[in-house]
Amino acid sequence: MDLEENLEENIEEEKIVAEAARAAETAEDSRALYEVKMQYLGRSGKVTSLMQHMKKLAQELRPTFGKRVNDLRARLEAMFAELDARAKEREMAKKLAAESVDVTMPGRKLSHGALHPVTIVKNRLIDIFAGMGFEVFEGPEIENDYYNFTALNTPADHPARDMQDTFYVQGGLLRTQTSAGQIRLMEKKKPPIKMLSPGRVFRSDDDATHSPMFHQMEGLVVDRGITLCDLQGMLDEFVKAMFSETSKTRLRPSYFPFTEPSVEVDVSCHACGGKGCALCKGTGWIEVLGAGVVNRRVLENCGVDPDEYSGFAFGMGIERIAMLKYGINNIKLLTENDVRFLEQFKD
Ligand code: DAH
Repeated sequence: MDLEENLEENIEEEKIVAEAARAAETAEDSRALYEVKMQYLGRSGKVTSLMQHMKKLAQELRPTFGKRVNDLRARLEAMFAELDARAKEREMAKKLAAESVDVTMPGRKLSHGALHPVTIVKNRLIDIFAGMGFEVFEGPEIENDYYNFTALNTPADHPARDMQDTFYVQGGLLRTQTSAGQIRLMEKKKPPIKMLSPGRVFRSDDDATHSPMFHQMEGLVVDRGITLCDLQGMLDEFVKAMFSETSKTRLRPSYFPFTEPSVEVDVSCHACGGKGCALCKGTGWIEVLGAGVVNRRVLENCGVDPDEYSGFAFGMGIERIAMLKYGINNIKLLTENDVRFLEQFKD
């Protein structure tokens, strides 16, 4: 508003109020409304500048002029107060609607899950061996021929390869055994070594106790003066922790290309205590893993001097241990995802 000479005659209250009302209408919320209000009633707002103009007026004109400006201010204040109250009400309603809770709705029941038996057994194995100082090392699931076979003293024409046929992919194969982890670790780390390598393996196998994908737990110890006795002592501790305090082990001669001598390890049947029952097929013993003293050639392949160091290795099927521990009679139960089966493993 420009302050002309005859302003006192010409405040144009109606025009100012109408203009303020229009500006207020465009304000989206109470914050924007406040900005509009300040354009009229703020320190450099229109009404305030009218008041300041009063000083320039003749003494006798001041009272009427002052009263008119004060009335105008009061009208605008009342208008903004009402608009502000309405805007705030709308904002509150919106906020409440967004936050509203229907207290009559039934609650959502969260049923808690459980670890898969293979995971439970894997964790338990890691716990037991970690307690003996083993470190976990995980190798890749897609391996190459060298790590899965050749470096493990199983050359291309070796008959032992027949038992571990697998899926071949470009540049590699799905590993048939976690034993590949032995080579990968020995290439990276000098002895002393105490390694545990869990993981998925793949084979062309499929019956009640074998599946094309399953899990193994590999173990490797390399140091000066390691013998088969160290393996047996460690296995005794292991079966006590895994099955029962009274469990015993038995070693039978066997063959693996990467160990010499090689053994199959049996554990005394925890169901009948060795008397003979359905679980142990009347023998009192159950086969749990393969093991042996690491073949010199394997150490050589990894740049470890077999005249200075020796070691033992073992490998077991995690599904097999789970089946024995929990009395599961078909390996397929472990991959069918039937909740009635899985629920039995909740703590
Ligand atoms: N890799 C063997 C298999 O899959 C299991 C095994 C046997 C691992 C003897 C070992 C071992 O480390 O020493 O049948």
